[in-house]
Amino acid sequence: MIIAIDGTSGSGKSTLAKTLAQKLNFGFFSAGALYRAITVKVLDNNINEYDDLGLQKMIDETNIIYTFDGKQNVMKLDGLDITGRLYGEEVSNMVPIVAKKPFIRVFVRKLQKETALYNENIVMEGRDIGSVIFPDAEMKVFVDCKIEERAKRRLGDYENLHEHTSLQKVIDDLKERDYLDTHREISPLVMCENSYLLDTSQRNVEESVKLVLEEMKKRGLVSEEKFNEIYN
Ligand code: C5P
Repeated sequence: MIIAIDGTSGSGKSTLAKTLAQKLNFGFFSAGALYRAITVKVLDNNINEYDDLGLQKMIDETNIIYTFDGKQNVMKLDGLDITGRLYGEEVSNMVPIVAKKPFIRVFVRKLQKETALYNENIVMEGRDIGSVIFPDAEMKVFVDCKIEERAKRRLGDYENLHEHTSLQKVIDDLKERDYLDTHREISPLVMCENSYLLDTSQRNVEESVKLVLEEMKKRGLVSEEKFNEIYN
């Protein structure tokens, strides 16, 4: 079974998707993490993000190994563990520009498809999972949240990385990323007709996960027994 979790930046998709995967004992894959890893390489190699030829050459020589051990993800870029660098401000601001290149999307899509082949059950998280990559996913969730709340969470992520910025700057950057992600030509962020809309503004992770599992139970995707096993 594929569970597609799409939504806006900083809405809590990743944490929701990861927790859901743990509860159901499914695999987990974050497309954003892949786009971020590629962006780390762009930055480290000082490649101009608009230099498509340079980027194409770079991607042809890129090896990414992305694993999830049931708790944590590890991102290896050309053999180096770069997990701790994925969520910095510089990467966050450049990633939508890198992610809109068709050849970069092809690279990530290939990894997504391969991962789905090797995992019978997986939670896939991103922007276009339900709309483009896996339109036949059995369950689709669209996650959103008020921008102020999303910005507070992102600011917390940056502080943890000892990067200091202001709430207003994070709000402005998120608005810019939302704009880029929803207005790009290829695979823009859209909510699918059959997606379950989840607003995480007033909800913590546990409440959000429970709502998704309740919806899955309603749709016949999680049995009553499984649900009770998780919550009793
Ligand atoms: O989800 P996260 O914030 O880590 O995603 C980082 C960026 O990767 C997004 O802003 C978006 O530009 C890009 N992305 C994408 N398609 C996906 C997932 C992420 O373009 N399926």
